[in-house]
Amino acid sequence: MTAVANAVADVSLDPIVYLNGELVPLSEARVPVLDRGFIFGDGIYEVAPLYANGAGPRTPFRLQQHLARLARSVGKIGIANPFDDTGWRELISRVVAANEADGSLRVDQDAIVYIQVTRGVAKRAHAFPAGVQPTVFVMVTPLQLPGEMQRAQGVRCVSAEDRRWLNCDIKSVSLLGNVLMAQYAAENDAFETIQFRDGMLTEGSSSNVWVVKGGVLSAPPRSRKILEGIRYGLIEALSQECGIRFEAREISEAEVRVADEIIVSSATKEVLPVTQLDGQPVGEGKPGAVFAALYAAYQRAKVKEAQHVQQGVENESRENITA
Ligand code: PDD
Repeated sequence: MTAVANAVADVSLDPIVYLNGELVPLSEARVPVLDRGFIFGDGIYEVAPLYANGAGPRTPFRLQQHLARLARSVGKIGIANPFDDTGWRELISRVVAANEADGSLRVDQDAIVYIQVTRGVAKRAHAFPAGVQPTVFVMVTPLQLPGEMQRAQGVRCVSAEDRRWLNCDIKSVSLLGNVLMAQYAAENDAFETIQFRDGMLTEGSSSNVWVVKGGVLSAPPRSRKILEGIRYGLIEALSQECGIRFEAREISEAEVRVADEIIVSSATKEVLPVTQLDGQPVGEGKPGAVFAALYAAYQRAKVKEAQHVQQGVENESRENITA
């Protein structure tokens, strides 16, 4: 890295964020300790990629789906959505513009938008308080996608019993169960912990998990036991495009252990091959053909979404975020 790149990277440690109506440096953003997000983990969040397009406009990827999931998450916990889709898009654009203007985010850098909504600030009592304004926080930071090496070699994972609650479909900020699983991976020098509940595959600490056997791609069905990643529907569609059969079904731990391929997916990782699980090679111990096909299709989907923006295609043109 050059000195200039380092300087830019340092600045990005203090990006401009949105908090309750104001744009402020992250280091100056404050929430009261009685915020229910702090006291109870009473809130939800969203994480969506905003890809750089050379000199062209930044393209949020699947933002419509991310905003729909955000609306579902607040709905499921009885918080009124603070903004409609247009309002959220405008807000994200403002934060992106502020960070590009102050040099925290280069135009050629991929970014990630983190949105958090909590129930707000109230006297500590468990049940929902009346007449409270939700706390709204939006942060845009550079996104470092997995490197070529990780894709070429695949990543090592460990496994553990899924001990989380049974509302994993809500993208809740109450992430202690996930945090403990991520820490378990870190302590075991692994990329991710793949979880099983009652002997059946659920998901990673912050990713969905896919299994390939005999050329067929499978994932646990949508249910309250997993977070339906925005990549879930995307990969379903991409597998169809690639002529790969897809099955949403319960997958036993035994099946995972004899899989030809295991793949993890998330907004920040896209798709990544898992080549070792609990010290044992997955399939032949190297990334497989289904991963290769899905990764290529994923990259094509990014290009397509960016082109739609440039061509001003109806609907997709709303995926355009400029500085
Ligand atoms: N996590 N399952 C869990 C538990 C997750 O936390 C995530 C994403 C996913 C994949 O969802 P998506 O494809 O929409 O990213 C599945 C984000 C990236 C996070 O917590 O940072």
